[in-house]
Amino acid sequence: MMIDTHCHLDIDDYKNVEEVIKHMDGNIMIASGCNLETSKRVIELVNKYDNIYGTIGIHPSEVQDMNEEALNYIFENAKNSKIVGIGEIGLDYHYGKEDRDLQIEYFLKQIELAKKLNKVIVIHSRDAQEDTLEILKNNLGGLKAVLHCYGYSYEASKEFKKLGVKFGIGGVLTFKNGVKLKEVVEKNDLDDFVLETDSPYLAPEPFRGQKNEPYNVLYVAKEIAKIKNMTLEEVLENTTKTAINLFDLK
Ligand code: NI
Repeated sequence: MMIDTHCHLDIDDYKNVEEVIKHMDGNIMIASGCNLETSKRVIELVNKYDNIYGTIGIHPSEVQDMNEEALNYIFENAKNSKIVGIGEIGLDYHYGKEDRDLQIEYFLKQIELAKKLNKVIVIHSRDAQEDTLEILKNNLGGLKAVLHCYGYSYEASKEFKKLGVKFGIGGVLTFKNGVKLKEVVEKNDLDDFVLETDSPYLAPEPFRGQKNEPYNVLYVAKEIAKIKNMTLEEVLENTTKTAINLFDLK
């Protein structure tokens, strides 16, 4: 069994999303929401397919259009037993820091919401390592968290690891220029990782540049096996176990 712990299966992403889901052949997917529209989509999916779980939340790039009502929607709908986390939430300073304060405000508010519901937080963090680390240090409490599509250094991973944070490893690992991430995988324990695709983005080699789909999580697993000198079975078994524990999948 394999689990794609982070993918997007929005209406506009695929010509035929049914086919993409079928291709997973009963393996598990965790679909992720980024705003109200995509979170609603996630609810539809988890209610329709046994092998799809979901996380809902407001992505840092979407905070401009949000309000208390939106947060309330997330809170009420995250009570669904197949919604296994709040996310993706976090900080993204890639395009500038103009709305930094608002991003932080929504990150903190959604962390609190996750605490009330006892759900995992799925964190998107780009070009915001220090603020993310600081916020988690001060606010995580006993909450479980995963840094989705981990993109920081090995040194940084040691700091996050102290907080019990897991790392979502995706297609970038297979890229020739994915050197930094290869080091993260090589030097940390297999137990620190869960697999993800972030479909439809970031397709692994040999599909780089094409539309990604959850089945390609297999190629991420193969690359981890290669780097850590393990069998594919070991990697799939271990990351599946980690994901089941992290998200408390039934
Ligand atoms: Ni994503």
